[in-house]
Amino acid sequence: MSGSDDESAWWRDAVIYQVYPRSFADGTGDGEGDLPGLRARLPYLADLGVDGLWISPWFPSPMADGGYDVSDFRGIHPMFGTLADADAVLREAHALGLRVIIDLVPNHTSDRHPWFLAALAAEPGSSLRDRYFFRDGRGPDGEEPPNNWISAFGGSAWARVTEADGRPGQWYLHLFAPEQPDLNWTNTAVLEDFDDVLRFWFDRGVDGLRIDAAPAMAKKAELPDADYGGVLQFRTVDWDDNPHWDVEQVHDIFRRWRAIADTYDGDRVFVAEAVVSTPERLVKYLRPDEMHTAFNFPYLKSPWDAEALHDVIDATLASFEPVGVPSTWVLTSHDEIRPVTRYGRPTTSSFFITDGEGEVSDLALGTRRARAAAMLMLALPGGAYIYQGEELGLPNVDDLPEEVLQDPMFLRSGGAIRGRDGARVPLPWSGVAPPFGFCPDEAQPWLPQPESWSALTVEAQSSEQGSMLSLYRAALRLRRSTEGLHAAPLVWRRSPSGVLDFDRGTVLRCLVNLSREPVEVTVAEVLLSSAPVARGHLPVDAAAWLRPLTQ
Ligand code: NOJ
Repeated sequence: MSGSDDESAWWRDAVIYQVYPRSFADGTGDGEGDLPGLRARLPYLADLGVDGLWISPWFPSPMADGGYDVSDFRGIHPMFGTLADADAVLREAHALGLRVIIDLVPNHTSDRHPWFLAALAAEPGSSLRDRYFFRDGRGPDGEEPPNNWISAFGGSAWARVTEADGRPGQWYLHLFAPEQPDLNWTNTAVLEDFDDVLRFWFDRGVDGLRIDAAPAMAKKAELPDADYGGVLQFRTVDWDDNPHWDVEQVHDIFRRWRAIADTYDGDRVFVAEAVVSTPERLVKYLRPDEMHTAFNFPYLKSPWDAEALHDVIDATLASFEPVGVPSTWVLTSHDEIRPVTRYGRPTTSSFFITDGEGEVSDLALGTRRARAAAMLMLALPGGAYIYQGEELGLPNVDDLPEEVLQDPMFLRSGGAIRGRDGARVPLPWSGVAPPFGFCPDEAQPWLPQPESWSALTVEAQSSEQGSMLSLYRAALRLRRSTEGLHAAPLVWRRSPSGVLDFDRGTVLRCLVNLSREPVEVTVAEVLLSSAPVARGHLPVDAAAWLRPLTQ
C-alpha cells in the first residue's frame, strides 16, 4: 500500500529535476534529444544532487505542442527511443537513487490518436464521437462555434470538421491547440482506458505522474457560455465558476486514480499542474484521497520583490500546512521565461507568458538574482523543482529566427506572441562552439544554440567555483546533509524592508537581500552565499545560508 500518509514519504521534500527530453541530450546523433542521451547523463543528475526527475511527455506525438499532443499513451516516441529505452531509464535512474515521474496529458489527445481518427470517420451522434466533445454549431447553418469558450493558445476553443460527405459538419472542442481535442471524461471508455494507462506505467516502475492541465478535465454539463469578464485571455487564476476550468466533477477522476495508485507499493505520487483562482481551491486537489502534491504557480509567478515573495511564502504555508501537504517551490519550466532573463528585466513577474516580452534584460543583474532566488527556493520547507538548464543559468533565447519557432502560441497568435521555444533550446554540455556536446558536431540541434553559451556549458562550469552550476551543487549538497532540515519549521526574523530573513528551526538561517543596500551579516559563519560576503555585508540581490546558532 502507498505510504502517502507517512511523514517520511520521499516526495515530501524531494528536489525534482525537469527533463524536457527533446532538448536534454542527443544519444543517436540526429540533433533531437532522446532516451539514450538521457541515460548517458543520469550520473550528471545524481551528481548534481537532485532526488528525482520529471520527464516531460515521451509518448508518440506529432509534436504539434512539444509532445503534449499524445497519439499513444502506452508508447515512446520513436524520436526518443523505445519502451526498452524507457525501462532502461527507469532501471538506471533507480540504481542511482533517482525517482522518476512521467508526464500524463489526460485532458486531450493528439488529433492523430486512433480514437480521434475514428471519431472523425464516425457519424455525428455516434459513441465514437462521445469520447470527445463534438457539437453542432450555432447559427442557421451551424457556422458559429457551439459556445464562446477560448483556447489557451488564442482564438476559439472549437474547430469545425468536414464530414464524410465533404460538407462542413460538427465542431470539436480543443482548449489548447486544434491538434489537441479535449477528451470527454464522463465517457466510460475514456475512464477505463486511462485506468489501464496508469497501471501500465506504474507496473513498469514509474514513481509518479505529473498531471497536465488537471483543472481542464471536467466541463459543466450543457457546455454553457463562459463569462471571461471581457478579458479574452486564458488567465485561469482569474476564473471563478468557469464552465471549463476547475469544475467540481474533476475531483471524482482524481479519487478514482488515487485508489489505483494506492494499490502500488513505494509511495507513488501524483503531482497536479493546477493553476486555479485561490489556494483554497488548489488544496481541494490535495485532499487525502486525491493528488499528493501540486506545483506552486503563485510562487513561480511572483516578481522579484521582498514583500511579494514574503506574502506568497506565507500564503503557501498557510494553505498547505493545515491539510498536511508539503509545499512545493518552483522558479520556472518549459512553459516560462528563464529566470536569468526574467529577473534582469524591468518586469520580473510572470503572470502571463507575455509579461516583460520585448523588454531588454540585464543578464548580469538577472543572473545575480537568479542565484539568490535558487538559494531562497532551496531553503524553503517542502519540495522543489529545477528545470533543465536552470542550474546552468541559461538565459532565454529571445532571438531565435522566426522560421525555427514551433510553439503553437507563436503560430496561433500570428506571431504576436513569440511563445516558449526560447526556454527549450538544447542544453550545452561541453566544448566551445555549438552544438556544445548536445549532439555530434556534424548534426544540427533542433533549435539553434547561441555561440555565447560556450561559457555556460556543464564542462566549463564544473571547474569554476563561482559558477551557477557549482552553486546549485553546493546548495543541494548542503540541503541534503543538513540534519533535521526536513522537519524544521520556517520562522521569520524581523528584518529591514526589502530583506527576507528566516530560520529553519535551529539548523539553517536564510537571508536574502532584495533591498538597495548591502545588509550587515552578524553571524560568524556563512555556510554558502550567492555572492561574496565582504567586510561583513551581503550585497544587494544576493542570498546567504547561515548557521543560526553561532550568533
Ligand atoms: C501544460 C504544459 O506544461 C504545456 O506545455 C502544454 O502546452 C499544455 N499544458 C497543454 O498540454
